[in-house]
Amino acid sequence: MTPYTPQRVVCLQPSATLTMRDLGLLDRVVACTKYCADVCPEAADGTRQIVADSWSSQAAQIRAAQPNLVIASVPYQLEAVGEILKAGIRFLGLAPRTLSDVFADIDVIAGVMGVPDDGEAVVRDMRRAIDDVRTRCPRDGKKPTVFCEEWGKPIIASQPWVAELIAAAGGEFVSEPGATVTAESIAETKPDVLLAAWCGAGDRVPLEKIVSQRDWQKIPAVENKQVFCISDELLNTPASSLIGGLNAIAWALHPGQFPQPMGIRQIRSEQTMHIETATYDTLTTELSRLASQAVSAEQLMTAIVERLGEAVPYYNWVGFYMLDPQNADKYPMLVLGPYVGAETPHKHIPLNQGICGAAVTAGQTIVVDDVSADPRYLACSLETKSEIVAPVFVKGVAVGELDIDSHSPSAFTADDRRLIEHCARLVGHYLEK
Ligand code: SME
Repeated sequence: MTPYTPQRVVCLQPSATLTMRDLGLLDRVVACTKYCADVCPEAADGTRQIVADSWSSQAAQIRAAQPNLVIASVPYQLEAVGEILKAGIRFLGLAPRTLSDVFADIDVIAGVMGVPDDGEAVVRDMRRAIDDVRTRCPRDGKKPTVFCEEWGKPIIASQPWVAELIAAAGGEFVSEPGATVTAESIAETKPDVLLAAWCGAGDRVPLEKIVSQRDWQKIPAVENKQVFCISDELLNTPASSLIGGLNAIAWALHPGQFPQPMGIRQIRSEQTMHIETATYDTLTTELSRLASQAVSAEQLMTAIVERLGEAVPYYNWVGFYMLDPQNADKYPMLVLGPYVGAETPHKHIPLNQGICGAAVTAGQTIVVDDVSADPRYLACSLETKSEIVAPVFVKGVAVGELDIDSHSPSAFTADDRRLIEHCARLVGHYLEK
């Protein structure tokens, strides 16, 4: 290390922050973006400033961190880059496309930071992990054809490094990497496997919905349920996290050969948006039977949320909230019970808050077709578009509720309402016993 080695670094992309961590240099990162913390939770330990992402980052905010190096990667916001350069701050701009670029960028960062050997070690470990998957993938037989997208509207094929990871896992990428494509053109290539990792969407790509919206039901991947969402940061962050993405791809292509890693989700069996009335009837009967066999209210609620979540593709969050009996009179509070779906920040909801509070207070089912237009709405996931809440009554008094969120607007029809109120009734009757 020389006296000129940067001591105060601002990282504007998760890949740069992750590489700094891999090099053991996180303590020199004085500021990063909130997205950096998604892939590198240690970055949010409270010791560094969180700046806006590089698309919108305020040059002033960056200057305030007094860096002697700013590391950014494509896409840049040109005005911000201009401001940084004008302020005389050293700027390292990366634009990786291939795996070689990713390795070279790690080397460059390590070189600039005065730790070239550590850079080589990070790259060596990544290469070794890739070779390991390559040798473990079966080579005989036809290679599975794979399409992977980094964005859904419009459909944008993933970057060249993803195509290379797919090749390492024994697959063949069917599109031009990075190209904007149409649903029809992808359908024509008849991929055996479909992967989706939308930038910024985490693991929340609505697989069932894109299949039905794009008319992809006849694609071999869909007919065989070979449709997966891989957590965005594992494929779209050009750094060591790509190895996690590779492991996910390897499992999707050869489930027998590799254990299922974190960060990959497979499409559910229902591929259509709305289910048949007959299915509601079957579900209603099935859930009544479950209730008659339940050994506790908790177990019944768990069975209901699990069954509803798996049977109805557009029920994206299903959970019970029950009034806390401890403080029922003084501070009536709804407490989150069994649920399926994304973790919610709302584990306790006072009766005067949210759609949830309103439904129990009014003792009525509430259906909200567009949550963004309802001032009462408490957000659980940014993807939620509509919600239904049905109270659970014990001897005529609302004691809790069944709450369902959907990523589709106006998802809940009269059939849904009947089904959900039936489930709430099953729990109420159980509690009355
Ligand atoms: N949306 C609810 C809060 C609960 S979460 O959606 C799981 C409400 O507005 O009360």
